[in-house]
Amino acid sequence: MRVAVVGQGYVGVAGAVALARQGHHVTGIERDATRLESLTAGRTPVSEPGLQEELSLALGTGRLRFAPDLAHTHLREPFDVVLITVGSPPTEDGSADLSQVGVALAEAAALLPAPYVVLKSTVPPGTSDGFLVAYPQLRDRYAYTPEFLNQGSALDDWSTPSRVVVGLWSQALVLPALRELYGPLACPWVVTTPASAEMVKYASNTFLAMKISFANEFARLCTAPELNIDHVMQGVGLDPRIGHAFLQPGLGFGDSCLPKDTAALTHWAVARGLPTPLLDAAVAVNRAQPGLVRDTLRAELGDDLARCEVAVLGARYEPWSDDMRAAPSRVVVPQLLEDVAGVRVWDPAMDAEHLGRLFPGARPCPDLRRAVEGARAAVILTEWPETIEADWSALGARMASPAVVVDGKNCLLPERLAGLPFTYRSVGNRMHPRGGATRAAGGLPTAAAGRDVLFGEPDDPPRDDHARPAGDPTG
Ligand SMILES: NC(=O)c1ccc[n+]([C@@H]2O[C@H](COP(=O)([O-])OP(=O)(O)OC[C@H]3O[C@@H](n4cnc5c(N)ncnc54)[C@H](O)[C@@H]3O)[C@@H](O)[C@H]2O)c1
Repeated sequence: MRVAVVGQGYVGVAGAVALARQGHHVTGIERDATRLESLTAGRTPVSEPGLQEELSLALGTGRLRFAPDLAHTHLREPFDVVLITVGSPPTEDGSADLSQVGVALAEAAALLPAPYVVLKSTVPPGTSDGFLVAYPQLRDRYAYTPEFLNQGSALDDWSTPSRVVVGLWSQALVLPALRELYGPLACPWVVTTPASAEMVKYASNTFLAMKISFANEFARLCTAPELNIDHVMQGVGLDPRIGHAFLQPGLGFGDSCLPKDTAALTHWAVARGLPTPLLDAAVAVNRAQPGLVRDTLRAELGDDLARCEVAVLGARYEPWSDDMRAAPSRVVVPQLLEDVAGVRVWDPAMDAEHLGRLFPGARPCPDLRRAVEGARAAVILTEWPETIEADWSALGARMASPAVVVDGKNCLLPERLAGLPFTYRSVGNRMHPRGGATRAAGGLPTAAAGRDVLFGEPDDPPRDDHARPAGDPTG
């Protein structure tokens, strides 16, 4: 098929590359001149594992190209399908800004001969129905199909989705066209109304947001030395009804989708007078989460705080994504700048100019060692391998004493931290009561069939008073 993918961001580039890989003839349409120039030169404008290699391969097949304008390209070689993957960012009041979607849809609806139009951008329920009023000619050739990919595994997620959700008004023509577009997929299809398909995306992201906030709430409950949040979440996630995904405590959801989609759904529900207590709670927990860094430093450093230098290690939310739109560092660093004498920021993926632009007032540092030199506190915001594998004994020795390390990603290996010259604080307690090893190196152990998941040997026999609430000082 001849396919246009309108909007070459995280979703659009992955989609254009994956569709070309499948054998379709794809044109990525991008209105941003810098992004377009980069793509035309064969460079991906967004950071995503494997995407650069796959982009080069797809360009090499001659089945992928890029253009600035849908209408002119369509005039020369009409498209069978126009896929819309433009942004739907949040507005000031939290509602979804649908201006990019509106423009792209108007352009697609005006094309002759008429292609199928498939909207993939995340939009509030009822958006497609509103478009149908403005463009009734779309009824028989329109589908809304939300995208569920994760940054970090975008290409795989696109090619092997867990499900395809399709919302349409008329199945006869659109469904066969979509099946041809997606090709043979080993996953179920949910075919429904456009509004329900739109709601599936918001419901899915709300559930993921609730899982993250659930893990963060339990991290706040698991601060006593007898409680270990890693073990608790491992024990919870092994239930196949729950699963481990999105149960990692941290400083809150920081990808670009969950904050904006939960805000947009809240706005949508409030406008209709519909209560959303679960969603509200997930958002409230999340909003408080970055403040854990400030609270921990205040508790650890007390009156010294205002005289301290603090090193922030990592600015990205995830090492593999350059999407900084909702990274917790954007809240944590300004809060620190209010509280402490000086903030240094190090991130191996960003140069000094980039860091300086993101965090005015903070001092960009070119390497980890220089970042922590003389600092009273180090705050880990990204699980960079350089940080996880660093010699923390040597780093701790460079810090001003008594030093504290706040691990906002729960990524340092506790068994390597016993006896080091700083206080270690994480999101929930992860240390054995005696400060020793509590988990296998390289991450949480996973369960193989018939095998136990071991976190380290308890070295005391169980006490008969173990029913006493953990951390109860009266014991
Ligand atoms: N980023 C994700 O991980 C992800 C995952 C699932 C769903 N989504 C949803 O997919 C949509 C796209 O997300 P994204 O992160 O890729 O967005 P993005 O902001 O990174 O990219 C959107 C691109 O569209 C371009 N654009 C806008 N209007 C255009 C037009 N008329 N013609 C040509 N180009 C145009 C912009 O210049 C921009 O490059 C959003 O609705 C988002 O909620 C995103």
